[in-house]
Amino acid sequence: MDRDITLEVDGARRSLAVDTRTSLLDALRERLGTTSAKKGCDHGQCGACTVLLDGRRVNSCLVLAVTADGAQVTTSDGLAGEQPHRLHETFVDHDAYQCGYCTPGQVVSAAAVLDEVARGWPSAVTEDLVAERTDLTDAEIRERMSGNLCRCAAYANIVPAVAEVAV
Ligand code: FES
Repeated sequence: MDRDITLEVDGARRSLAVDTRTSLLDALRERLGTTSAKKGCDHGQCGACTVLLDGRRVNSCLVLAVTADGAQVTTSDGLAGEQPHRLHETFVDHDAYQCGYCTPGQVVSAAAVLDEVARGWPSAVTEDLVAERTDLTDAEIRERMSGNLCRCAAYANIVPAVAEVAV
């Protein structure tokens, strides 16, 4: 059964009819031609499909598109304005990728981590994190980014790329 939905994707309002079984990831990639979010595992394990849904990071392969009706969806492309997002620059500066397939999801997740820290959300590593604190230890970055896998294992460069923006 199809339903009409509207999404705001990277600032652009998009309307489409989707089967109620369609994931947000498939709606983005296959129906709207927005290919920034990637399909790795398609079952919530790799994080390649990470997007912000009304500001919160989600695995878009686990979200039904119909449940996102009316929501704002931000991909890595949407993080950039006139200029690249600072995380885009630090990922390049630190060579924080090899094949690059996971990079858009990593960048979106890193942006969410910085927002979560700014809001004072504790991590499992540091439960007493307070809002005034914006720095992150490497262990905290690894824990907070643990839902984003890199098959090339570029973690040694991803962590400092995120840390540079976090200070
Ligand atoms: Fe969604 Fe892997 S494709 S978590």
